[in-house]
Amino acid sequence: MKTLSLFTPGHIGNVALKNRLAVAPMTRVTASEEGIASERMKAYYEDFARGAFGLVISEGIYIDKAWSQTYAFQAGLTSPEQVAGWRHITDAVHQQNGRIFAQIQHSGALSQGNHFLDGTVGPSAVRPVGKQMTFYRGEGDYPVPRELNEEEIQSIIDSFADAASYAVFDAGFDGVEIHGANGYLLDQFFTDYTNQRTDYWGGDIAGRLRLSLEVIKAVRKRVGQAIPVGIRISQGKVNDFFHKWAKGEDDARVVFTLLAESGIDYLHLTEFEAWQPAFPENPRSLVELARKYAPQLTIMANGSLHDASRAQQVMDMGADLISLGRGALANHDWPERVAAGEAVREFDSAILGPIADIKDAELPG
Ligand SMILES: Cc1cc2nc3c(=O)[nH]c(=O)nc-3n(C[C@H](O)[C@H](O)[C@H](O)COP(=O)(O)O)c2cc1C
Repeated sequence: MKTLSLFTPGHIGNVALKNRLAVAPMTRVTASEEGIASERMKAYYEDFARGAFGLVISEGIYIDKAWSQTYAFQAGLTSPEQVAGWRHITDAVHQQNGRIFAQIQHSGALSQGNHFLDGTVGPSAVRPVGKQMTFYRGEGDYPVPRELNEEEIQSIIDSFADAASYAVFDAGFDGVEIHGANGYLLDQFFTDYTNQRTDYWGGDIAGRLRLSLEVIKAVRKRVGQAIPVGIRISQGKVNDFFHKWAKGEDDARVVFTLLAESGIDYLHLTEFEAWQPAFPENPRSLVELARKYAPQLTIMANGSLHDASRAQQVMDMGADLISLGRGALANHDWPERVAAGEAVREFDSAILGPIADIKDAELPG
């Protein structure tokens, strides 16, 4: 078998990785009602490290006791008890010689299970498209969110920094991934039709990216230069799968140029099929565009890459690392299997539980 660069050692910032394979962040709603990580979660995460993934990225973790929680039974990083729950998990992963980053998330208008406060908030009072996800105990339309004011926006930026600090200095994570993708709060600010603000936090694409950039800045300031910080972004959303950035490559140029200057250690890009052209009438994938406009940045690519030759194709397009979602769920030992030339199991949504019925493009985020 041709040697795959997937299996060569890599790094993100100062953190060395034994290969280029990461487990993508996946919400599993298996914490306690109070958002404390469970023993079951420990066994789940530990298993990926045992299966030789170079990096595990946690499920999206909520960051404050206000409106950030997205789903019931989601884990948080807002209290000493929640920190202690995660510490068991990071210790277990480290004992397997693995590395684990925390994905920190604010749900904004897509919250459908918050045990702290009623209602939802967002950049503007625009009802999200689509329906709440029954998979996560939601039902019917999303409510219209209340528009966030300046003070609340500053407090959200602080909460991202607080959660990042808890994650790395108390809970033992090796790095932090800011969830800027899939339709949640930062993506709501970034997206033209959900952000109708005319102040500092809205306007053109650079204005709409500002909240993500300010969050990056605050997180970086809090954790220092030595801790890896990344951001995940996407075009599609859990409630709008086929959304595309309106100006195609022009938008990509602005986004990737600003993110390259933002001080992140890596950019995590998720598309439904990572190798496909990102925009109509342009042959380049999002990875190729990111590489073009952010030549020095470490890029992690995600999206239907459970076939090793596909993953390698996207590495050849310019990705430094690959993350697997469903492929990792079906094969906690995907790296070991593929390195040994063994077949990988197909993902079956039944793995997720009795209520799961996920069509290919409809992934919970
Ligand atoms: C059960 C499940 C939960 C997910 N939760 C998250 C999440 O918490 N954060 C996130 O950024 N993406 C989440 N995703 C999206 C995955 O990280 C990934 O982008 C998606 O599964 C596509 O990658 P794949 O083709 O390798 O499965 C979730 C996906 C699944 C299947």
